[in-house]
Amino acid sequence: MNNTITSKDLNKLNSKKGIVQFLIDDDISVSKVLRNLNYESRLKSLQEELIKLQHWVEEKKEKIVIIFEGRDAAGKGGAIRRITQHLNPREFKVVALPKPTIEEKGQWYFQRYINQLPREGEIVFFDRSWYNRAIVEPVNGFCSKNEYEIFMSQVNQFERMISESGMRLVKFYFSISKDEQERRFEDIKTSPLKKWKYSPVDQKALELWDNYTYYKKKMFKVTNTKVAPWVIIKANKKTKARVEAIEHLLDIMPYKPKDQEVIEHIEIEEKEID
Ligand code: ADP
Ligand code: AMP
Ligand code: MLT
Repeated sequence: MNNTITSKDLNKLNSKKGIVQFLIDDDISVSKVLRNLNYESRLKSLQEELIKLQHWVEEKKEKIVIIFEGRDAAGKGGAIRRITQHLNPREFKVVALPKPTIEEKGQWYFQRYINQLPREGEIVFFDRSWYNRAIVEPVNGFCSKNEYEIFMSQVNQFERMISESGMRLVKFYFSISKDEQERRFEDIKTSPLKKWKYSPVDQKALELWDNYTYYKKKMFKVTNTKVAPWVIIKANKKTKARVEAIEHLLDIMPYKPKDQEVIEHIEIEEKEID
């Protein structure tokens, strides 16, 4: 299937004078519109594959865990929304846990995450995960040094148990640059629709940038295992990041029937940018 915009499409677009005039009036470049159209059609084909993936998960009683990590405003939530947009809500769930309650604080750290793990035939998306204790918590002083050390010594074993018990675990890290985070915070703060997202943790994120980097590096060093490797998605461009994450997911899952041409998997560079 060909998802690129052809000159025929361009002519069609040009023939709609009203649209072109609107673009000129609003100073929107045609190339930007075409890029967007390209993205939308690419996303649609990938979403069709995701539906096939979900059918396979149901049919084979698979259990899938997909975690999204990354700095504040990296685009984790937006990516999850695009992935799940056309899926059957009965067969997946999105987990974005708030800060732990007093009761949860008294439990084994992993306990509240275990409660959310998938049943047979279910895909669970974690918008942030147990990896809070690898970065956000130590950086912001939400856990003690000892709690951090215990977490780091248990997490690989925890993920091994998850995987040995028959779940497939995928770990995405959405990576943005400092400039991009700053731009997005400005946007979030001034948008009536996004303002609610701007949390006390976000407020401190830029000044704590280097501290985040320090813990992020330690996390990759310790937890990038064979059983559960990290997939780093360069996320300064939101649309590209979403497409890459979906491509990767479809590529590694052995669902059938798979349309390999649609996936056109592009090798994701194992290089960080922030
Ligand atoms: P989000 O990134 O989901 O918008 P925040 O920026 O508010 O949320 O916080 C980042 C993460 O830190 C969240 O997962 C939140 O639950 C966690 N968090 C916030 N405050 C605390 C706290 N006092 N103790 C432990 N975790 C916390
Ligand atoms: P400090 O500045 O070292 O006194 O720490 C301030 C807060 O951050 C304390 O509540 C510590 O628990 C937390 N903290 C500091 N360093 C670490 C670390 N390496 N791991 C986990 N928590 C930390
Ligand atoms: C993200 O954009 O990475 C998170 O989902 C939400 C946020 O911090 O804005």
